[in-house]
Amino acid sequence: NLPFIFLLQLSHVVGAAKRPTVCFRRGLQTVTLIPGDGIGPEISVAVMKIFEAAKNMPFWEERNVTAIQGPGGRWMIPPDCKESMDRTLIGLKGPLKTPIAAGHPSMNLLLRKTFDLYANVRPCVSIEGYKTPYTDVDLVTIRENTEGEYSGIEHIIVDGVVQSIKLITEDASRRIAEYAFEYARNNQRNSVTAVHKANIMRMSDGLFLRKCREVAENFKDIKFTEMYLDTVCLNMVQDPTQFDVLVMPNLYGDILSDLCAGLIGGLGVTPSGNIGANGVAIFESVHGTAPDIAGLDMANPTALLLSAVMMLRHMGMHDYGKKIETACFDTIRDKKVLTGDLGGKSKCSEFTEDICRRVRDMD
Ligand code: NAI
Repeated sequence: NLPFIFLLQLSHVVGAAKRPTVCFRRGLQTVTLIPGDGIGPEISVAVMKIFEAAKNMPFWEERNVTAIQGPGGRWMIPPDCKESMDRTLIGLKGPLKTPIAAGHPSMNLLLRKTFDLYANVRPCVSIEGYKTPYTDVDLVTIRENTEGEYSGIEHIIVDGVVQSIKLITEDASRRIAEYAFEYARNNQRNSVTAVHKANIMRMSDGLFLRKCREVAENFKDIKFTEMYLDTVCLNMVQDPTQFDVLVMPNLYGDILSDLCAGLIGGLGVTPSGNIGANGVAIFESVHGTAPDIAGLDMANPTALLLSAVMMLRHMGMHDYGKKIETACFDTIRDKKVLTGDLGGKSKCSEFTEDICRRVRDMD
């Protein structure tokens, strides 16, 4: 198996080296909307209504995403969705179901691979009026999205022994570190912490950490610190206010970003963005399809709405994003019209209408 593993790793590295340079077109007004499954369509309608109330809304190009098999049995997303994303470069996505034993890879993973969405960005900011054990949380997790333990290279050595490869490349480590520092600089953040276990995984995490250190040299205005993952977890639950921007490999990011979402009230209120090469970006709610409440007008659209606000900021439409975010936070702070998961009794449509009214009142 070893030559096979070597070839797989080599193709990954060569593929990374061949990546075209980033060219991001600003001021786009068309957004590819992937409503998704379960509560996805309901929360997408809610977001569209709120955008409509704020006027100046983008043109939504709706696309469904189901796994299809292309030539040679390769799993792919539908060509009309790929074509739309290639043209608009910006996507907003609801949750997608991945049935266990469906026979195809996770649709979220397929989207990430198709558009080389290498950075997962999750701002975690305490929401005033939504009580959690923590206040004043204001941090951002930036997760490398394409390799590490999730490179998908697994094989059986002999019966009863399997091996999974954690792949770390110089190229991917450098670009995620550069993204984190640029994000910090562009968003008036003060520090970047590299999260790692280079004391144990000396070569793989060691390489990741080395690239972070090198990139830090070019961003002297941003404070750079490095911390072991276990220390970050301990310190995070003791006092999350000490953290600012955190950058880390894939698996650590998957876990730590959910932990941080928990600090501010969970996945129902946490926005997320996946940033790719060539200026592509897909913003998404990170909760699931909630099949238990789908179609019952009970879903909370906050996570998708705040992801859409992130999208507006990414597109340079800051005022427009601020207006919608303020209306959403005001509705939550007011506590009169809240969905069940936020401790209220209102329907998704009532919660949405309350935000729309506040947005209209701002004109
Ligand atoms: P889930 O997040 O769908 O549901 C967990 C619990 O949270 C349920 O009680 C649900 O009602 C509630 N919930 C989730 N989002 C909510 C919202 N916006 N408003 C109110 N309540 C909400 O997780 P589960 O049940 O593990 O997964 C269901 C399906 O979702 C699976 O097929 C899974 O593959 C998919 N999934 C998709 C994700 C994505 O596309 N990003 C992420 C996680 C799961």
